[in-house]
Amino acid sequence: MAETVIGIDFGTSCTSAGTLIGDRVELVRDNSDPVVPTVVYVPERGDVEVGKRAVLRQQSQPNRVVRSVKRVLGMEPGNELVRRYAASSGARLEATGDKLLYKIGTATYAPEQIAASVLNRIRELAEQRFGGQIRKCVVTLSAAAPAGYRDAIVRAGKIAHLDILELVAEPIAGALAVGLHSTSAQRRLLVLDFGGGTFDASAIVQAGMKFSPVATFGDSLLGGDDLDDEFAEAIAGAVHRQYGVDMHRDILKFAELRYRCEQTKRILSSRRDAPFTMNEAFIVGGKPRSLDLKIDRPWIEERWKPLFDRAIDVVDEVLRQAGWSPADVGAVALIGGTSLVPKFQELIAAKFGRDRVAVSPDADLAVSMGAALLTARHGSTPRHVPVLTSDRAAAL
Ligand SMILES: Nc1ncnc2c1ncn2[C@@H]1O[C@H](COP(=O)(O)OP(=O)(O)OP(=O)(O)O)[C@@H](O)[C@H]1O
Ligand SMILES: [Mg+2]
Repeated sequence: MAETVIGIDFGTSCTSAGTLIGDRVELVRDNSDPVVPTVVYVPERGDVEVGKRAVLRQQSQPNRVVRSVKRVLGMEPGNELVRRYAASSGARLEATGDKLLYKIGTATYAPEQIAASVLNRIRELAEQRFGGQIRKCVVTLSAAAPAGYRDAIVRAGKIAHLDILELVAEPIAGALAVGLHSTSAQRRLLVLDFGGGTFDASAIVQAGMKFSPVATFGDSLLGGDDLDDEFAEAIAGAVHRQYGVDMHRDILKFAELRYRCEQTKRILSSRRDAPFTMNEAFIVGGKPRSLDLKIDRPWIEERWKPLFDRAIDVVDEVLRQAGWSPADVGAVALIGGTSLVPKFQELIAAKFGRDRVAVSPDADLAVSMGAALLTARHGSTPRHVPVLTSDRAAAL
């Protein structure tokens, strides 16, 4: 049997991967979850932990947990963005000479090493699911990746015993995943990837199965994380007005508040309202108080509006760079987990017309599904255009 090649979407907040089994995309799973948070916990002794287990460590040992490593991978230490990213990285990020290093306890780690732990975990999960030894992969690359990113991810792959056969642009993988490939299509595409930490817009000219990017523009500080922050601030603000308590003061509780906001945000993508509860959220007059709220979607959408406005600015800029008007665009693909937020979909539909907008129900998996399709080019699986079906529903 041919060697399995996996396709990996190494994301800022989540990583996922898959391959083709026959003409079907099969994704790697951690327990039953197809996405592995791109979060790494480095203990004082023993093995690093990756994914959900690392996320849980954030509350008790935030200095030993690295988040969003993709943001700094391949970046020059002098880049002005490094300082801004450092604030959300969890563990301390320092520019030492010509290197960027995470300082965890008395040890230091390069971003490549941290990224490698995530890739290594993905490789292990893929071996568990697909069998055999896996040494080859296709990895997607953000449209806005810094110049040093390619080398850095290849080095991370090497550390994780993975040979990267091809680096593919995320928007192209996403366009494939939402089924925009067709041998007869000749059109202008817009792929909007609203992820955890970044919003990228790409203008692509499609000629059948061939995709040529013509313009790309992004906001590397705009993503689902910012929606979560805004949500947490909205609740902290309401608590402050009512009780005069500043929830930011208790760092651990604030981290929990943010985590619960992220969960509630997801529920609000499919419901008009959602309960929000948090035990012993803060102290008033020496007594712990819990939160037990009902969040209406319009209330939080109002708070998110400035973020969506920024997203629309990015879309306008990529159109301007491509020299297109909205009417020129034949199809818009919405990918990335944050594109599941209904208000965002509404705004894009209002601009381009609902019938031209394609949203993947597995928007956060679209890039890895596209990467999995592309493994066909490397011979492990049939070379015809595969049928694309997500197997997430079956697993839930
Ligand atoms: N149903 C949902 N509704 C709203 N947001 C969601 C939903 N599902 C996932 N998300 C959000 O999507 C984000 C993760 O998306 P995704 O996996 O596409 O990002 P990423 O690829 O890790 O990041 P990036 O593309 O910025 O590198 C998170 O902020 C998560 O909270
Ligand atoms: Mg992504």
